[in-house]
Amino acid sequence: MSLTVVANRVPIRQSDDGDWVPSVGGLTTALLPVLRQRGGAWIGMGEDPALPERQPFPADDPDFTVRRVPLSQDELDGYYYGMANRVLWPVSHYMIQHFEPNPSFMETYRSVNRRFAEAVLDEVDRSDEQIWLQDYHLMLAPKWIREARPDVTLGHFWHIPWPAMEVFRILPWARELLRGMLACDLVGVHVQEYVDNFLESARVLLGADIDGQTVHYNGHTTRVEAHPIGIEVDRFKQMADSDEVRTKAKQLRKRLGTEHIVIGIDRLDYTKGVLSRLEAFERFLENNPAYHGTVSFYQIATPSRTKVDTYQQLKREVDEVVGRINGQFARDNWVPVNYRYRTYTQFELCAFYRAADVALITPLRDGMNVVTQEFITANQNGVLILSELTGAAYLLPEAIQVNPYDRDGLAASIRTALEMNPDERTTRLNALKSTVEGLDVQRWARGFLDALHA
Ligand code: F6P
Repeated sequence: MSLTVVANRVPIRQSDDGDWVPSVGGLTTALLPVLRQRGGAWIGMGEDPALPERQPFPADDPDFTVRRVPLSQDELDGYYYGMANRVLWPVSHYMIQHFEPNPSFMETYRSVNRRFAEAVLDEVDRSDEQIWLQDYHLMLAPKWIREARPDVTLGHFWHIPWPAMEVFRILPWARELLRGMLACDLVGVHVQEYVDNFLESARVLLGADIDGQTVHYNGHTTRVEAHPIGIEVDRFKQMADSDEVRTKAKQLRKRLGTEHIVIGIDRLDYTKGVLSRLEAFERFLENNPAYHGTVSFYQIATPSRTKVDTYQQLKREVDEVVGRINGQFARDNWVPVNYRYRTYTQFELCAFYRAADVALITPLRDGMNVVTQEFITANQNGVLILSELTGAAYLLPEAIQVNPYDRDGLAASIRTALEMNPDERTTRLNALKSTVEGLDVQRWARGFLDALHA
């Protein structure tokens, strides 16, 4: 049975020497082996008109087709920068202060989703085909695919939180979007709480019949299941154990020169809680003068969605708070906050994970948060401070869990982590490691596809 994956982004990129290679990322790593084995297509947006619509991959001995849906600048602005990033993203993350319900975004989203559906219909020619759509960019495409092809199997994985019904219904197009999703046979989310929110949205907003985790609506049946995503555990372990990473981690510790290292690693996104985290670290320094000179906080922020004003504004605010903290507390030979705004390789990130005594992973809201799993896998004796407003928190009770809006609580948790005795650190980290091993990303993909088949 061949597979068609439909996602906002295609899974390949051009390397510096011009060759096409798989892009880095959990989804690509999980799904390329399946596509290689079964054949099929991966359909994503085409941002560059110079690139071909259909590209067999790999070029010399193709296993599957990469298909691009070419988008004009207006389409990209309405569908991606507008509807995906300014409407669905903030509402799903409960950050409605950033929500811009512009009807023209929805109009473009509709027409782009229709074009994705047409591309799918063009690629799919066998009735035993499985089609797997990804994420909030593609809520409406399933409906148009289903109308043309009642026989295909349609799955959808939602990678961000599915918010509480009362929040989801803020979307002026909530019902239309839900109807799009309910053309699928299986909808996957990370944790049971999101399953419950989805079912409640279908029940209240559409009057759908709910039977356990199955939605009956308009003559069609959709199962809704939790499939928590993982990382490539083995590869991360190998990277973390490599000589290159060990050396880089040692160099980092030496360079910072402090007894303790606390890290934060995120895309620079307002959902990640970078500002609140910095303010909590500032509070920790205010409350604990004895720690001055002994702790370095290393915050890496990867540039993201830089064309969206709220992201530009956030960058300015983070720059300012970092400057304020260092201005107040730095002294000879000690800079409390080391801040880097750039993209790092996975090897470099592994060195940070390995060097850290404490990871501060405190999003204001996050569907899962895979950085958490990377830290747990790569680190050897550190402490994880984790926001309770993440999907990961439901799975990782051995982390120190905090409310990221509680500045004093977060500041106090930094001290608790630094003072945790080695036995407790080890016990907690081992328990976390064993959970993360069970969440492997290949297993996630197989689990979802098996459930879709069933
Ligand atoms: O977590 C949701 C998500 O859209 C991922 O699918 C993606 O890798 C990440 O956020 C980055 O977003 P974007 O593709 O908009 O840069």
